[in-house]
Amino acid sequence: MTAAGPATRKRVLIDCDPGIDDALALFLALASPELSVEAITVVAGNVPVAQGVDNALRLLELAGRPEIPVARGAVSPLLRKLITGEAIHGENGLGGVRLPAPSRGPDARHAADLMIELAQARPGEITWVAIGPLTNVALALAKAPELGELVPEIILMGGALSGGNITPAAEYNIYADAEAARIVFASGIPITMLELGATSQVALTREHLALWQAASSPVARAAAAMADHYLRVYEARGLRGGHLHDPLAVGMAIDKNFARASRRLRVEIETRGEFTDGATVADCRPGQAGRRAPNADVPAIIDSERFLALFLERLTLLPR
Ligand code: RIB
Ligand code: CA
Repeated sequence: MTAAGPATRKRVLIDCDPGIDDALALFLALASPELSVEAITVVAGNVPVAQGVDNALRLLELAGRPEIPVARGAVSPLLRKLITGEAIHGENGLGGVRLPAPSRGPDARHAADLMIELAQARPGEITWVAIGPLTNVALALAKAPELGELVPEIILMGGALSGGNITPAAEYNIYADAEAARIVFASGIPITMLELGATSQVALTREHLALWQAASSPVARAAAAMADHYLRVYEARGLRGGHLHDPLAVGMAIDKNFARASRRLRVEIETRGEFTDGATVADCRPGQAGRRAPNADVPAIIDSERFLALFLERLTLLPR
């Protein structure tokens, strides 16, 4: 990877539900010279959308990037009742960590409108990194079908091909708004899907936190405090590390080579199953003649060691 100049940076819009791993993902994006974060849009998910917007504003303030627009999105899934994740992310979504108040408020536009306007202003240039339920993405696609020609790629954290987390069959981001996910996977926009089988290969441990706790960076120290809460949740479930779901999606925007192997698969979203509601069903059977055209690149083997080294080091560099 060479140091990217401004002209070669990949422009990204990050749609998120901060959320501790979302927060870590945002910090990674802001610390990475390969990326230019054009906007943050917030969706109801881990926490109600108003809390998510406040968290996003505070995260950008701490990272020294208050000029990046933050737009408020959907207050609830398209059809389903909102299921939030305070049990994992804490009451305020950031593990109870209190960040400095933001110096400005959110953008006046709805998230879906900001997504559309930026894609229209820079056709083919802005990759969407979606790390929460896909409600905002689906709303934007429903409002402006031409986005299929304007958005070059959606890199999303979501889905589970070998066991879920919110149910035995489903991963939270997809399950929370399966109808939205179905719209997104049918959009025709190239998708890179970081499902649980990939993201669970990357775990943050207490040994890793020591680096951030010793850093002079206020971002690294805040990340350590949030991650401490996150790790306690995982440790209470008998796990030694906390899976870096959302940071890995940003990692794939930085360098696709973090995936050492990927599959092109047709992914369908279950919206009616008694036991499989919200599942991502992929036809992985070899040589299925006549199978439906693939709609997603699905990383299978992650270079976890190289990703973790970059992730840990970069957060110590903020604010830049
Ligand atoms: O299943 C993991 C996903 O759900 C992550 O995006 C996490 O932040 C939660 O939103
Ligand atoms: Ca998330």
